Amino acid sequence: MNSLDFHRHRRLRRTSSIRNIVRETHIHTEDLIYPVFVIEGSDIKNEVPSMPGVYQWSLDRLNEEIDEVIALGIETIIVFGVPADKDDVGSSAYDKDGIVQRGIQQIKERYPETTVIADTCLCQFTDHGHCGVVHEGEIVNDDSLTLLAKTAVSQAEAGADIIAPSNMMDGFVAAIRQGLDEAGFHDIPIMSYAVKYASAFYGPFRDAAHSSPKSGDRKTYQMDPANRLEAIREAESDIEEGADFLIVKPALSYLDIIREVKERFPYPMVAYNVSGEYSMVKAAAENGWIDEKAVVMEKLLSMKRAGADLILTYHAKDVAKWLKGES
Ligand code: PBG
Repeated sequence: MNSLDFHRHRRLRRTSSIRNIVRETHIHTEDLIYPVFVIEGSDIKNEVPSMPGVYQWSLDRLNEEIDEVIALGIETIIVFGVPADKDDVGSSAYDKDGIVQRGIQQIKERYPETTVIADTCLCQFTDHGHCGVVHEGEIVNDDSLTLLAKTAVSQAEAGADIIAPSNMMDGFVAAIRQGLDEAGFHDIPIMSYAVKYASAFYGPFRDAAHSSPKSGDRKTYQMDPANRLEAIREAESDIEEGADFLIVKPALSYLDIIREVKERFPYPMVAYNVSGEYSMVKAAAENGWIDEKAVVMEKLLSMKRAGADLILTYHAKDVAKWLKGES
């Protein structure tokens, strides 16, 4: 035995304190972005059936949720809206009194220091459920850009600190940047859903946001899960157009993409840990099949290890509690 020559990796794993000092990746509460769903109506706190622990909130009850998020030390919130009325051009997306605009105003009035991100898309607001305008069954790219820019400007006027366009039309960053600049919002950054796959993991979100397409799918604008090089082209063009942050979405099945995009582009990288990724963990945990806390932390660590700086996740409140030592 004495003649064997090998490395003793286990030396650095011997005690918990040694493991602590050699740990390479950490999750901090300030890395987390918490999604909030606001819905028209009053006295609503609706649990989303496929997303236990996630609710749709009417504005008169929204403070219950926001107060909790802030008390936990989460500093960044993204707002998704569920409007009362939909039409073919998604007018409630850019109405200054729209649900998202009022939601943003309310949060910023109560917590001016909190960073509020607006998700900029049309699918929750169009009667056909697509992320752009539809003519004769086609999702028309360039006509959609005008509406998306209008939506972003109205969200900035409502007080949004960051605009996060998720629609996947070509040129959306350029159009929104121009729209924001012309309206005087030079200082409002764009967190682009640069790399967004046509994923089956969005199913539960579409229940929460009432945003399923009524016909067809999103494959002509969201990316094919089989593609890697296309992710680089998408990220590159968004940066050329003025993106300040890059989002890769979903996260868990796309850790290779997070790593690659992060290595090529020196920009803040956001992993979107999407609804289906959340629901799977919740379902397994409710059945007692996995240890929820351990699985969630391991999952988020994998995203940071892959290169994510920030993680947008429905688990954010739980993670913030665990980091504070609460169970
Ligand atoms: C809107 C949008 C979607 C998600 C975020 N913004 C759904 C979609 O593209 O169909 C999904 C988020 C999630 O699953 O958590 N375009």
